[in-house]
Amino acid sequence: MLVPTLLALSLPLLTTALPAPTTLSSDDTPLPLIIWHGLGDNYAADGLKEVGELAEQIHPGTFVYNIRLNEDPSSDRTATFIGNLTLQIAQVCADLAAHPILSTAPAVDALGFSQGGQFLRAYVERCNNPPVRSLVTFGAQHNGIADFQACGATDWLCKGAMGLLRTNTWTGLVQSRVVPAQYYRSVNVSTGEPTEEYLAHSNFLADVNNEREERNETYAVNLASLEKFVMYVFEKDVTVIPKESGWFAEVNKTSKEVTPLRNRTMYMEDWLGLKRLDEKKGLIFEDAPGAHMELSDKILAKAFKEYFGPLEKEKAATVKDAMGSWEL
Ligand SMILES: *[C@@H]1O[C@H](CO)[C@@H](O)[C@H](O)[C@H]1NC(C)=O
Ligand SMILES: *[C@@H]1O[C@H](CO)[C@@H](O)[C@H](O)[C@H]1NC(C)=O
Ligand SMILES: *[C@@H]1O[C@H](CO)[C@@H](O)[C@H](O)[C@H]1NC(C)=O
Ligand SMILES: *[C@@H]1O[C@H](CO)[C@@H](O)[C@H](O)[C@H]1NC(C)=O
Ligand SMILES: *[C@@H]1O[C@H](CO)[C@@H](O)[C@H](O)[C@H]1NC(C)=O
Repeated sequence: MLVPTLLALSLPLLTTALPAPTTLSSDDTPLPLIIWHGLGDNYAADGLKEVGELAEQIHPGTFVYNIRLNEDPSSDRTATFIGNLTLQIAQVCADLAAHPILSTAPAVDALGFSQGGQFLRAYVERCNNPPVRSLVTFGAQHNGIADFQACGATDWLCKGAMGLLRTNTWTGLVQSRVVPAQYYRSVNVSTGEPTEEYLAHSNFLADVNNEREERNETYAVNLASLEKFVMYVFEKDVTVIPKESGWFAEVNKTSKEVTPLRNRTMYMEDWLGLKRLDEKKGLIFEDAPGAHMELSDKILAKAFKEYFGPLEKEKAATVKDAMGSWEL
């Protein structure tokens, strides 16, 4: 283990800058990891198991929990297309708060794939019990989608859901039942402002992004309380339209011009606590090579090493900062 070695080496040099040695050498059990899968996937899928195994390989002893809306994997998959996200997130909040292991942890780390990324962010904003230390999202749609993804040729569930929402996006029926419609975002092409329809009817995104006039400060406080919020965008993503949504950027549909998060009003006025998070160096924008959700062990392992693991890591990082360019 690298961390205890570093601490042991650096302690004599930094006695004034450090907390008492007893707290440093205490528990190095990794924090539990919660994972929320994407559209069309289910919590028991093999790919997800492999991700959990990798996390446990990198930080032995990690308790991994794959978020699910239903114990039956097929119903859990259905819930990625069909359902009211308000209720889905409330259910996940209740499940995690009642979970015998997660509820007793001082904090958990969180990993969201695709739409699971913005759903975990909503968990942090609305509930955060147990609290999330660091949230890492891959190919998420934080700023929503401007178009709907193509479905697999024989994916009838996907086709049914997408067909329904293309024509009736803002109706109560679709907003209460079709999951991707609830993070669809429409803007006026000339002003770049969100449309009235979106603000009035979006059942999820307009709320969790605090885009309505009455903003919920709890959302901002909770998000700013993260140690790290790491957003990965896949360089060749053609499924998420636009892919820069994964960085919370705004893209002009006509000119394709990208306005990065830091240039947006929502950041400058700090509607969501993202500016506060950035000021403490907690907001991280990352690239992943490849197409949507084309994950490699290499990129996952790098993220797990950097952001997950024992609670002690925060202190270890402080030590590392204090030591300047000192290398592990
Ligand atoms: C803001 O969000 C918190 C957490 O979900 C909730 O308890 C509270 O009722 C919300 N406040 C308003 C004004 O909606
Ligand atoms: C989704 O469920 C919540 C909670 O029951 C409800 O208040 C809301 O109206 C529902 N959304 C839609 C679009 O029906
Ligand atoms: C876009 O905004 C402009 C300026 O406010 C307005 O004139 C126009 O009607 C809007 N377009 C749509 C489609 O709402
Ligand atoms: C988006 O790009 C189009 C075409 O270049 C331009 O006319 C429009 O004003 C732009 N919208 C915003 C909000 O900048
Ligand atoms: C973002 O803002 C910075 C500083 O105001 C400016 O220099 C930069 O050109 C802006 N970038 C974009 C893409 O709008």
